[in-house]
Amino acid sequence: AAAQHRTGDLSGRRIVVSAGGTREPLDPVRFLGNRSSGKQGIAIAEAARSRGAEVTLIAANLEVADPEGCDVRRVSTALELRDAVVAAAQGADVVVMAAAVADYRPVTVSDAKIKKDAGDGGLTLELVRNPDILAGLGSEPHSGTLLVGFAAETESDDEHLVELGRAKREAKGADLLVVNRVGWNEGFASDENAVVVIGAGGDVVTRAHGTKLSVAHDILDVVVSELTTTAR
Ligand code: CTP
Ligand code: CA
Repeated sequence: AAAQHRTGDLSGRRIVVSAGGTREPLDPVRFLGNRSSGKQGIAIAEAARSRGAEVTLIAANLEVADPEGCDVRRVSTALELRDAVVAAAQGADVVVMAAAVADYRPVTVSDAKIKKDAGDGGLTLELVRNPDILAGLGSEPHSGTLLVGFAAETESDDEHLVELGRAKREAKGADLLVVNRVGWNEGFASDENAVVVIGAGGDVVTRAHGTKLSVAHDILDVVVSELTTTAR
C-alpha cells in the first residue's frame, strides 16, 4: 500500500518499541545471546516515526544503525530491558515487544574469566528464568496501552504456526501478536520478512510479506485501526 495514505496517522501517539536481542553475561568476556538482528523492530520504530509518532526505542545489542528521530535507550540484558520497557510504557499508547528476550540467564556471573578445568570434561551452566516482560504488562490493567507481541517460531506448517501464535497471544495477554517463521536462513538477518498478525479472539487480522519496512507499515496499519476502533 502507498505510504502517503499513512502520513501523520500516528501523530500525537507515543510508541515504545523494543528491538534486538538480549545478552546474558557469564563472565567479563562471554554471554548467552541469540540471532536477532533487530531489523524488524527498527523498521517498526522508523515507520512509526515517519507516520508522526513519538517513538522510544529500547535497543538491545542492535546490529544495525539507530533510526533517525527516535529516543533510543540502550540496554543489554533481559532485566535491563524489562526496567527500560516498564518505565517507558507508562502512559504510552502502544508497546511493541519486538526484542528477542533471553528466557534464561546464568545464575551467577563470574567476576573473572571462567577458566577451563584441567582434564577434558564438559561444563554445565546453571540458568534461571528471566521475567516475561510482555506477560507482565499484559497481566496488569493496560486499557490505555495497546500491547503488541512477537513470536518467532520454527514451525513450518502454516496452520500450526497460527495456532502457536493464538496460544501465545492468549498466554501473554497481548492485544496483537505478530508471528514470523524463523530458521537457520529465515527471519533474523534478512531484510525481508513474512508475518501473520493475530488479533482478539485469535483472528488472523492480516498477513504481510516483503521488506521489513513494508511489513512494519502493514503491522502499524493494524495498530492504527485498533487505536481508532477502540478509542484509546
Ligand atoms: N518476551 C518477553 N519477555 C521474555 C520472553 C519473551 O517480553 N522473557 C516477549 C517477546 O519480546 C515477544 C513475545 O514475548 O514479544 C514472545 O516471545 P517468545 O520467545 O516467542 O515466547 P516465549 O513465551 O518466550 O515462548 P518460547 O518458549 O516459545 O520461547
Ligand atoms: Ca522465548
